[in-house]
This record gives sequence, C-alpha cells and structure tokens, in this order.
Amino acid sequence: MASSSSSSSSSLLLFLSLLLLLPYITSSNIITIPISHLPKNPHPDPYQHLSYLANSSLKRAHHLKNPQTTPPHTNIKTPLFSNSYGGYSIPLSFGTPPQTLPFMMDTGSDLTWFPCGKNYQCINCSTYLNNTAEVKSFIPNLSSSSEPLACLNPKCAMVYPKIHCPDCKLGSKNCTRRCPWYTYPYGSGDTSGSLLSETLHLPNRRVPDFLVGCSIRASDQPAAGIAGLGRGPASLPTQLAVKKFSYCLLSRLFDDTNKSSSLVLVGGKDSVKKTKGISYTPFVKNPEVPGKGAFLTYYYVGLSRITVGGRRVKIPYRYLRPDKNGSGGTIVDSGTTFTHMAPEVFELVAGEFEKLIKGYKRVEEVEALTRLRPCYNVSGIETPMFPSVTFHFKGGAEMALPEENYMAPAGWKVLCLTIRGDNLPVISSGPSIILGSFQMQNYHVEYDLQNERFGFKQQQCN
Ligand SMILES: *[C@@H]1O[C@H](CO)[C@@H](O)[C@H](O)[C@H]1NC(C)=O
Ligand SMILES: *[C@@H]1O[C@H](CO)[C@@H](O)[C@H](O)[C@H]1NC(C)=O
Ligand SMILES: *[C@@H]1O[C@H](CO)[C@@H](O)[C@H](O)[C@H]1NC(C)=O
Ligand SMILES: *[C@@H]1O[C@H](CO)[C@@H](O)[C@H](O)[C@H]1NC(C)=O
Ligand SMILES: *[C@@H]1O[C@H](CO)[C@@H](O)[C@H](O)[C@H]1NC(C)=O
Ligand SMILES: *[C@@H]1O[C@H](CO)[C@@H](O)[C@H](O)[C@H]1NC(C)=O
Ligand SMILES: *[C@@H]1O[C@H](CO)[C@@H](O)[C@H](O)[C@H]1NC(C)=O
Ligand SMILES: *[C@@H]1O[C@H](CO)[C@@H](O)[C@H](O)[C@H]1NC(C)=O
Repeated sequence: MASSSSSSSSSLLLFLSLLLLLPYITSSNIITIPISHLPKNPHPDPYQHLSYLANSSLKRAHHLKNPQTTPPHTNIKTPLFSNSYGGYSIPLSFGTPPQTLPFMMDTGSDLTWFPCGKNYQCINCSTYLNNTAEVKSFIPNLSSSSEPLACLNPKCAMVYPKIHCPDCKLGSKNCTRRCPWYTYPYGSGDTSGSLLSETLHLPNRRVPDFLVGCSIRASDQPAAGIAGLGRGPASLPTQLAVKKFSYCLLSRLFDDTNKSSSLVLVGGKDSVKKTKGISYTPFVKNPEVPGKGAFLTYYYVGLSRITVGGRRVKIPYRYLRPDKNGSGGTIVDSGTTFTHMAPEVFELVAGEFEKLIKGYKRVEEVEALTRLRPCYNVSGIETPMFPSVTFHFKGGAEMALPEENYMAPAGWKVLCLTIRGDNLPVISSGPSIILGSFQMQNYHVEYDLQNERFGFKQQQCN
C-alpha cells in the first residue's frame, strides 16, 4: 500500500516519505500503523514554541469543553479541535489506486477527513506552510472506488442521526440525494466538505464503503486531515469494529526526526489478551447532555487523586466526576499537548508544587514568554530535582510521571511545569481535567473498548 506513493518536491514530502515506511503485519487480527509527529515546529524559538503549544492546548481545551452547537442543516455532533502541532499523525491510504496522506490522531473527535481536491483551501495555514499547494490532498477523481455518500446509505445516519432524506423512499432506486455537506466548527475556525464512501487500505485489510470526509476548505489547520478515534458511530475504531487500540507516544525529543512508534488496532480473539505489565482503570460513563453530543465522543476516566511530592492535593470532588450537565471529570485526549486543568484544580496542583520547591528561583520573564508556570532557573545545578507528580485512577492504577513528562526545558537552564491552567475564571461545562499527550510520552496507552477500560504502562517507544 503506502510504499507506492511517489515523491514530489513539496516540503511535506520528506515527512510523508518518512511516514511511508511499510507497516508490518503481525497477525490477521492486529493492524499496526506507524505514528509520527507532525512535521515542522512552527516556532523555532524555544519560548515561542512552548508558548505556541501552551496556547494551542488551551484553545483545544476550550473547544473540547464547549463544543459549538452546529447550525440547523448540519446536525453533526462531533467537534473538531483547534490545531496543535504538538500532535501525532499516522499515514492512511484511501482509494483505488491508494493515495496515502498523513492524518492527525484525534481521540476527541469521530469523523475521519482529508484535505480534498485540487482546489483545497487551507486558510491561515501559512504559519508553517508557505502556500496551500504544499498541503497534500486526496483527489477523488483519481480513485475508481470514490463515491459521494448517498443519503440512504446507513453510514449517513452515523453522522446525522436524525437525517431525513426528502423525496427518498427507503429502497427507491431513483434517489440521488446525497448525505448533507458537513461543517465542523472548532476553536476559531472550521472545516467543511462532502462525505464520501471510499475504500480504506490498512496494512492487512481492505475496508470498502468507509465513511470519510472530503474537506474542500479548512481554516487554522494543521497540514493534514484528521483520523477520528473517538467513541462515536462514525469513528475509525467503530467503523472497523475494533475491540481495542493502543499507541506508544514517542518522546518529544524526537520531534521532526524520522523516528516513529505505532498505532495498533486489534480485533477478534487477540483483543482478549492482556498486555503484560499494564494497569487498567475503567472508562467512566459519558455524560449525556442535550446539545452536547460531543461529550459522548470523549474517553472519560476516573481520576481519583493527584499527588505532588507524595502529598495528596485536595481537589474538590465536583471536579473529579462529570455531573448531569457534563461539568467535571477527566478525559484522555491525544490531541491536547499539555494536560489542562480547571483554574481551581491547577492552582491547587501548582501551589503544592511551588511549596515543595526550595532553592530554585522562579523566572517570571520566561513564564510570561512561555505561558507556562512555574518556571525555575536551575543554572549551576547538576541534576535538578522536582517533586513527583502522580495521577491515581479508580481501581488503583497509578501514573507516576517521569520528570521529563512534566518539566520541559525553556531556554538555557530553565525548566517549566508543562501543565496548563485555564485562563478563564469558570468554564461551567465540560471536563475539568484533560490528560494531554506530553504527559504520556513513552507510555504504552490502550483503549480497551470491549472491556470498557483504559490501560497504560511506561515503555520506551523508540
Ligand atoms: C499565545 O497567546 C498569547 C495571548 O493570546 C499571545 O500574545 C502569544 O503571541 C501567543 N503565542 C504564540 C506563540 O502564538
Ligand atoms: C486568519 O488569521 C487572522 C489573524 O489571526 C484572523 O484575523 C482571520 O480571521 C483568520 N481568518 C480565518 C478565515 O480564520
Ligand atoms: C517559505 O519559502 C521560503 C522561500 O521559498 C523559504 O525560505 C522559507 O523557509 C519557507 N517557509 C516555510 C515555513 O516553509
Ligand atoms: C475531475 O473531474 C472533473 C469533472 O468531472 C474534470 O473536469 C476533471 O478534469 C477531472 N480531473 C482529473 C484529474 O481527472
Ligand atoms: C422516483 O420514482 C418514483 C416512482 O417509482 C416516482 O414517483 C418519483 O417521483 C421518483 N422520484 C424522483 C426524485 O425522481
Ligand atoms: C532516519 O534518520 C537517520 C539519521 O537521521 C538516518 O540514518 C536513517 O537512514 C533515516 N532512516 C530513514 C528510513 O530515512
Ligand atoms: C445544571 O444546569 C442547570 C441549568 O443551568 C442548573 O439549574 C443545575 O443546577 C445544574 N445541575 C448541576 C448538577 O450542576
Ligand atoms: C539563571 O541564574 C543564573 C545565575 O544566577 C543567571 O546568570 C542567569 O541569567 C539566570 N537565567 C535566567 C533565564 O534568568
């Protein structure tokens, strides 16, 4: 599949070619796809880069917490995220013959979509690409298996649960009505396009009639489509009837290199096997809130405690579990870089952290530049030591973070806590805590859909 793609001179190509290392087949029920970072740090200056990641983590958190209700014609319930180039991507191949493109891995949304057509418009993507021509698009014309999704195709109802197809009687052959155009709002921008039924080629499986979005425009986007790995009916794992999926997130030290780890999709009997050394915590039931169908997409987990330096941070219970209005609780999100916390929770965690640190000097200039805090000057200290940070989950699973997963270098001899507090006083709805990918570097992370549990263990991913 993937290896057949040819090169052109676009700057994306280097990255793409690195992605195209042929995934290997381990067994008929296991599909392995390489994971890479998205290309190019848009801000070469380290402060700017951290600030960028901090900003995008926050923007994404606001989006996940307050998914915008969609306009009347397009009653799509799944949201999309604000861009975070701190994300990870996978290559997927669609069409006949296959066209391979990079996709951001996103557990916070359902629809999988690609930049589509020769005239794909990527507005405000210029911060990291010179022009839209550099964004690789899928060309439906060049695929013999590409078909507009018919309104009567049951897959249309995966995106539009309440769809009526006027003039289309079930079983009537002359109905040419198509599944409606989609517009996914997110953060400051959106993407829109038409839905296709297309063939998806996985390393050892060919999946015909896969529902995929053909976006003809997007704004404020990464140079890639989205692979929606959420819990909804249109998501990639749901469409493939996958029993579990897992990934290992390569350390950010390998940003912009050709190293990759893997996304593994498991079906059939192999899903019964327990991964050695892994700790599990049950998924928490998603809050069902009218108008906030997006909450049904997220992976909620039961974070019961956070300890800093071994001491329990006294987080009010209302933050730890979602209430009827969908306020509170913790989700795991592959598209958020820095773990995000509601203001009160962050103040408690950061406060405990600051209290335990003696002898290092806070550097407010760097905090202002990076939008992270606290930041400490560790100049002259050979091996700086920081209080431990541990997430404790229901069922006893503990995530004791390695220091590099919560302290990031910000320039010369300065380290900052990479957990982001909200800057708005109260955001009434949505999860209070969003566990981001920076905190899960070098973790094997497993979404066990069959057994409704989330698993993790530390593992070198490279
Ligand atoms: C982050 O957001 C702040 C405030 O909105 C802005 O001043 C700063 O330039 C942003 N940083 C980056 C790298 O975009
Ligand atoms: C593009 O970015 C500029 C500056 O950030 C903003 O004013 C404008 O609204 C954006 N355009 C779109 C279509 O998002
Ligand atoms: C944009 O193009 C110019 C000239 O071709 C190049 O010097 C510059 O590095 C490019 N910028 C990005 C972000 O690729
Ligand atoms: C794609 O289809 C359009 C209209 O059907 C046609 O005008 C165009 O030439 C086609 N492009 C390619 C590359 O086949
Ligand atoms: C479809 O065919 C039926 C008769 O079989 C006809 O009554 C109806 O008007 C047709 N609908 C369209 C949209 O052509
Ligand atoms: C990956 O990069 C390393 C060094 O940066 C190089 O030696 C190696 O050949 C590259 N591998 C591939 C497959 O491009
Ligand atoms: C949910 O929201 C409604 C209306 O905003 C409010 O009256 C109610 O107290 C909230 N319930 C909870 C459990 O927070
Ligand atoms: C850190 O401390 C050293 C020694 O006191 C000082 O020279 C350096 O300028 C400080 N760095 C920053 C970023 O404040």
